[in-house]
Amino acid sequence: MPENAPPAPDPTAPADDAFRSGGLPQASLGFATRQLHAGDRPAGPHRPRATPIYLTAGFEFEDFDQAHARFAGTDEGFSYTRVGNPTNVAVEQRIADLESGVGALLVASGQAAVTTAILSLVSAGDHVLASSSIYEGTRELLRDDLARFGVVVDFVDDPNDLAAWGRGIRPRTKLVFAESIPNPKNDVLDVAGLAAVAHRHGVPLVVDNTLATPYLLRPLEHGADIVVHSASKFLAGHGTVLGGVIVDGGTFAWAAHADAYPQLARERGLDGLTYAERAPRTAFLEFARRVAMRFGPAPSPLNAFLILQGVETLSLRVQRQSATALTVARWLEQHPGVGSVDYSGLESSPHHALAQRYLPHGQGSVFAVTLHGGREAARAFTDALRLFTRMTHLGDVRSLVLHPATTTHVLRDDEQLAARGIGPGLLRLSIGLEDADDLIADLDHALAAAAAGGLSDARVPDSAVPDTTVAVAAADLLSTVGAS
Ligand SMILES: Cc1ncc(COP(=O)(O)O)c(C=O)c1O
Repeated sequence: MPENAPPAPDPTAPADDAFRSGGLPQASLGFATRQLHAGDRPAGPHRPRATPIYLTAGFEFEDFDQAHARFAGTDEGFSYTRVGNPTNVAVEQRIADLESGVGALLVASGQAAVTTAILSLVSAGDHVLASSSIYEGTRELLRDDLARFGVVVDFVDDPNDLAAWGRGIRPRTKLVFAESIPNPKNDVLDVAGLAAVAHRHGVPLVVDNTLATPYLLRPLEHGADIVVHSASKFLAGHGTVLGGVIVDGGTFAWAAHADAYPQLARERGLDGLTYAERAPRTAFLEFARRVAMRFGPAPSPLNAFLILQGVETLSLRVQRQSATALTVARWLEQHPGVGSVDYSGLESSPHHALAQRYLPHGQGSVFAVTLHGGREAARAFTDALRLFTRMTHLGDVRSLVLHPATTTHVLRDDEQLAARGIGPGLLRLSIGLEDADDLIADLDHALAAAAAGGLSDARVPDSAVPDTTVAVAAADLLSTVGAS
């Protein structure tokens, strides 16, 4: 054991305390070790080695006084699973450790994590500045739903135009939001650059790190203040459950910005303290816990268990998936039926230099390939695939394919799609754990089908596809989303 390792856990500690205090932020241990052991304190009379699934709505109070103490917050034991649960806490501690955070909150989905993080920071009349290169569900939440509650949102078109971020921040901007590896274009974020701009204006940076995972990139180590995840993706890894995580970096000085964040640094609780006074480093997280408790996106302990199982093999999966993605991307790039491949691991990517800096251990496994022949080629290709699953999901052990223009991005008009570089021939691939040769054989066969059925000349670029392809695509889009 390394010299500076903390003392061994007390095996006689009661279960509640063991789970609450079990975080082992042991920077000296490697990632693979910590993904198995951080926050891991099997306890109780039977000494189970795996983390038990505490599938219970509530927890018995020993007596009248303990019930009061748990509600008053003077006893940290569990009361009700929407407020906290030992299995969920085990996941929180492990992911906080892997992300180099001071704590984490597990919620029911990635969307719930994004929503809870934002609702913890904004009030009506406040402003959010976000990258336009983000998951469509988040973009629509910001644009449509937050607007209904009086929160104003602006989007920065090029997330790595740091001057544009600086120009976009207003006096009531309460957070800056971006993704570390956006999909499908793989436009890797300059996390440190954006953190510096946000901090210059006294605003925290929130980064969605779903596609990178803490194995490839830890935004908090580059200056971000808060990290969110869809745990449904790589963390759980097997496409079985949904989950979301918020990780607090513990570095933002809320008390120094008390006017901007009165909920954290002005409002006083029963004990007469503000969140920032009670727990300066985890003030945001504890407040987010309250927001989640009240809005209610509680995760099932069963799902928490499955996420924990996934996390235990995270590095192995991500390493292998990234390596296979690079092999597949290189193969696709040289294929005559392919117009372009957006993968930051390729030397041809405009984001390759940023990937070298931020993603030295692998560039992830979700990327885009644009076929010559537009939408009809994409259709023939998608329908011919046998091994790739046609599905809206990412980070699964199985390889997946999706046509963003007609699915995830269906609410964007042609102009917006073109601005984001999402052409009619673009497909999103999420590379799984299959053998690279088998995936390539499947892609080869599907590209042949696209060339045979979708177009007469596999070398015809998108821009030269007859207008009818675009017109059909536009008509279909209108019939799907209405004429708005
Ligand atoms: C980057 C990113 N963030 C958040 C989400 C939302 O996660 P969930 O589907 O778990 O709600 C997704 C879902 O696809 C995503 O890709």
